[in-house]
Amino acid sequence: MKIVHVASELFPLIKTGGLADAVAALAKALAEFGHDVAVILPGFRAVLDHPEFAPARLEFEVRVEMGDEFLRGEVYKLSLGRRRTLYVVRRDEFFDRRAPYGIGTRDYDDNAERFIFFNKAVVEILRLAQLKADVVHCHDWQAGLVPVLLRASEQRHDETLALGTALTIHNIAFQGLFSKKAFALTNLPEDFYSVEGLEYYGQMSMLKAAIVFADRITTVSPTYANEIRTAQFGCGLEGVINSRAADLTGLLNGLDGEVWNPATDALLPANYASDDMAGKAICRQRLLEKSDFDPEFAGPVFGIVARFAHQKGFDLILGAKDFFLQNDVRLVLLGGGDPRYENAFRELAAAHPGRVSLTLGLNETLSHLIEAGSDFFLMPSIFEPCGLNQMYSMRYGTVPIVTRVGGLADTVTDFEAAPTDGTGIVVEPEVASLRKGLARALALFADKSRMAQVIQNGMRHDFSWTKAARGYEALYRDIG
Ligand code: ADP
Ligand code: GLC
Repeated sequence: MKIVHVASELFPLIKTGGLADAVAALAKALAEFGHDVAVILPGFRAVLDHPEFAPARLEFEVRVEMGDEFLRGEVYKLSLGRRRTLYVVRRDEFFDRRAPYGIGTRDYDDNAERFIFFNKAVVEILRLAQLKADVVHCHDWQAGLVPVLLRASEQRHDETLALGTALTIHNIAFQGLFSKKAFALTNLPEDFYSVEGLEYYGQMSMLKAAIVFADRITTVSPTYANEIRTAQFGCGLEGVINSRAADLTGLLNGLDGEVWNPATDALLPANYASDDMAGKAICRQRLLEKSDFDPEFAGPVFGIVARFAHQKGFDLILGAKDFFLQNDVRLVLLGGGDPRYENAFRELAAAHPGRVSLTLGLNETLSHLIEAGSDFFLMPSIFEPCGLNQMYSMRYGTVPIVTRVGGLADTVTDFEAAPTDGTGIVVEPEVASLRKGLARALALFADKSRMAQVIQNGMRHDFSWTKAARGYEALYRDIG
């Protein structure tokens, strides 16, 4: 089959979160099954500057109708490996910026123009490159208009550009909501701006557009597929989701074993595997040193790598922060985002040097070291569509402490609920429950043989992409 992915992130070229890892790994797995895979990305500065982009060639130009004017874009093409091609839409006015979506928690004011342009350019690429796709697979709101633009364009030109479309929702909390004025830039007939179409409480919603018009909808774990049908998790879109329930599936993400494998990971000071754990102690030692902690410290080290957002449970962690001060433990944090949390942890780290360490910003190497060098990985999300870090931590022999939501519930089994095959500590998304979970972590750490068993269970669990990719393949066959 010919499968075209449309996304705004792709590891290693541009990444702000798990979306980048998921799209890259899925594209790779599908190509390995023998499918022809193309990925279409916006030409963000990070992409153009990335060393892997250097061999890309200018392929053609697109002219994109945006309301009453036409805007040009350049399309670059690059091979990502066998049966994998990348197309990059370049228009520096829109994409040559420091960050892809905005600065800090503030989105760019022209995101409607930027992403409507990108979505329209995708349709032009399908036409000009004659991709003859079996399926165009869109990820998140940033690609949300593609299914409807594609159908409108096919009708207008009496042609077939793709047999079917799929949408994967990686996070329903991000919806691409813009003012009605932006709708004019789509050049869609006025009746598409309706409750049955793109309109959402007086605004245009790019995610809703895809939920309504894609042939199939998936999300990244079975539990999240059920959760988004409820008001608690649906973020206002539960009604639309329920109207498409027959076409909705939850396919659990996997992890890319070429990037996340402690036995081969070149970003670690030492490698290790489930049958030879010596290297993990070296990683732990390096993490203690890097965090300016006592390198002889023998107690438990808790790691966090995350976007600093309400989603990731930072209010729960702050609610339980006494735990980290009253017990002889260490806490290492890497991430950034919401200034509220950045400030709170900056203060905590400044007040307790030698016990709490904070590194702000994106740091690929440190993220691998925290996964490998910690004893526990803390991820008490309020909601979590899938979550990749908890899988990475299990793979790296680090016991995850997670809440029973979304993909966390689908990937981590509590070691007390499942004494023989438990892989972590599962709590409810409440401060009191997290406190209990942290206390259970201390007890587990003290029980060396039980701790070793939980670690082994996690390391040996199969989190490969094969199963999910087979699921997507079956779904494509169904629509293509
Ligand atoms: P989300 O996509 O919601 O942020 P995931 O767990 O799915 O959560 O994926 C997060 C990804 O981003 C992981 O690969 C994680 O290692 C990475 N990541 C998050 N913050 C940082 C950071 N500060 N530096 C490096 N990698 C990070
Ligand atoms: C989103 C979700 C995260 C998921 C990732 C990849 O960023 O927040 O839970 O793992 O997408 O699908």
